[in-house]
Amino acid sequence: MERRHLAECGSTNTEALQHLRNGGGPLIVSADRQTAGRGRMGRAWQSDDASLAFSVALPLPAALDLSGLSLAVGCAVADVLDPGGERIRLKWPNDLFLDGAKLGGILIETAPLPDEKRGVVIGIGLNLRPLPADADRSAYASGHAALQTLDPAATAGATLDRLAPALRALLADFQTLGFGPWQLAFSRRDLAAGQRVRVGERTGVARGVSTSGELLLDSDAGIVPVSAGELSLRLENVSP
Ligand code: BTN
Repeated sequence: MERRHLAECGSTNTEALQHLRNGGGPLIVSADRQTAGRGRMGRAWQSDDASLAFSVALPLPAALDLSGLSLAVGCAVADVLDPGGERIRLKWPNDLFLDGAKLGGILIETAPLPDEKRGVVIGIGLNLRPLPADADRSAYASGHAALQTLDPAATAGATLDRLAPALRALLADFQTLGFGPWQLAFSRRDLAAGQRVRVGERTGVARGVSTSGELLLDSDAGIVPVSAGELSLRLENVSP
């Protein structure tokens, strides 16, 4: 897969989407600094040389079901960075947590393409360095964890070199197998399992995910599958 590195851009997801709209093929684009990094739910995403920001761009068949893709990507990233499975947890549908604080996130965006194709962009942001002692932590609603706490030698380039082959393999498999084979891997790292959660207007106990990556919410109405869309999950008995 072609790799491109930029010193600065608005958002690697924007670069990747533009590349696909221009008829480009599979690409990984990374940047030292994003000036308009995006998170889910319209939030801004800070990224500078204390973090890793990159996007994987792929033209895929428009009919391909992308359900569970962000969960599978989270599993693949976590398995590379924490093969023992002891420290990194996944918060449905797209957050990576290290020792209880947010290590990074995944933002998947798509664009219609000609010839029954769809451009799929998987953006990944990971904190590399811990915040300075005097940093304003109020901007980090889910806390801030840094990869160098797990691997003091981690750099942006070396981390991307480790992640790229695993993501390539995952994306090849996902096109034929979907999320199903990742369901067990997700359950092993599921941060919310067994906890009271709020998802949009709904509350209940998180009971894992379905074979298509929906959250299984145990509520007054029984077990209700909830798909990610633009919803985020809040753990009710821990702060925040
Ligand atoms: C989230 O937690 O809300 C998702 C954050 C995703 C951030 C990454 S950084 C690389 C790529 N470019 C962006 O503008 N966003 C994603």
